[in-house]
Amino acid sequence: MRKLATLKRLFDDRALYCQLVVTRRCNLACGYCNEYDSFSKPVDYDELVRRMDHLVDRLGVTIMDFLGGEPLLHPRIAELVRHAHERGCWTNIITNGLLLSDALVDALNDAGLDSMCVSIDRVEPTEFTHKALRPLRKKLARLRERARFQVECNAVLCEETLDEFEPLVLELEALGFPVRCGVRHYEGRLDLNEAVREKLDWFHSHFRHWRIAPMMDLHMARIEGKEAPWKCTGGYKFLYVDEFGTVKACSQVALRKPKHVLDMTPSDLKANDHHKPCEKDCGVSCVIQTSLITADPVGYVLRCARHLLETRGRGVAYGGWFPVSELRYRRAPAEREVGAGV
Ligand SMILES: C[S@@+](CC[C@H](N)C(=O)[O-])C[C@H]1O[C@@H](n2cnc3c(N)ncnc32)[C@H](O)[C@@H]1O
Ligand code: SF4
Ligand code: SF4
Repeated sequence: MRKLATLKRLFDDRALYCQLVVTRRCNLACGYCNEYDSFSKPVDYDELVRRMDHLVDRLGVTIMDFLGGEPLLHPRIAELVRHAHERGCWTNIITNGLLLSDALVDALNDAGLDSMCVSIDRVEPTEFTHKALRPLRKKLARLRERARFQVECNAVLCEETLDEFEPLVLELEALGFPVRCGVRHYEGRLDLNEAVREKLDWFHSHFRHWRIAPMMDLHMARIEGKEAPWKCTGGYKFLYVDEFGTVKACSQVALRKPKHVLDMTPSDLKANDHHKPCEKDCGVSCVIQTSLITADPVGYVLRCARHLLETRGRGVAYGGWFPVSELRYRRAPAEREVGAGV
């Protein structure tokens, strides 16, 4: 049923994907982030349930991301996941991972969580970002043992993380975790310079991150100064629901006519189906991906398949089909040559 509904969303006028903020509070303060504070209370559980029900029943959402701030700070996160799961959604948590415990992983298993994206930017933590492998290695090992959901990692490429990008990706890959990389955006806008390009080139040709291959093409075309037209579906196919319940085009940009999610109708979705002035240098990965796949589902899938073929034998396939506990460990990072031939 869920797969059928998701397939329908690729071709109809209802929303596909929602990012639901469950608390704005965070236990960290990353130097590139403007989506957190240190004091907000968790959003009320019953209110979040009402928002989810409306998102699913009225607006059509089939993929529900829980995020913040830090979503694991919500005391009822497993119950929220269970509710979305029971309503037929694919459920995903985006987290800095530092609050993971065995008990929480077990509760998320029981709740039916489908996937988790652990954000890790470096090997060693710095003042700029504490999201690093050193404090997370044990948590990742525990996840490998216990999690019955998929786990993938997301690294943010920027000036402050470039130096450790290859060792980070190679170690995560050796541990068996699919890795994706995002480029730092500045209130939604990208600055794609030569240093970033070099890292993207290396990542693009060595790793089986098939689900983001079309987005990487877009970034590469922009770097080369080519036309790279696309249409942002923020507020239409993609909904960002902030802690107050206001729907935004993305975490960074408000809609022309902001609305509370409970007041939103399918015709409001369609009214948001227009080009946005910030598309040219947009860097909000999840919206770009949702927009590219809903614009041309067949072309998207074929491009992803081509990337998988071109990178066969290398890396762990991003968006793997298996729970993390079923993945096999790969070779140690030291055995792989950084930047080895394509
Ligand atoms: C806002 S965080 C919320 C969830 C959780 N606290 C975390 O860090 O995973 C969601 C994702 O956005 C990424 N992010 C935050 N600010 C960013 C920026 N300026 N550019 C690119 N990615 C960013 C984070 O690294 C994380 O993967
Ligand atoms: S952990 Fe996530 S929400 Fe918190 S400051 Fe870092 S990126 Fe932002
Ligand atoms: S183009 Fe869309 S996703 Fe990108 S910054 Fe603008 S509103 Fe946000």
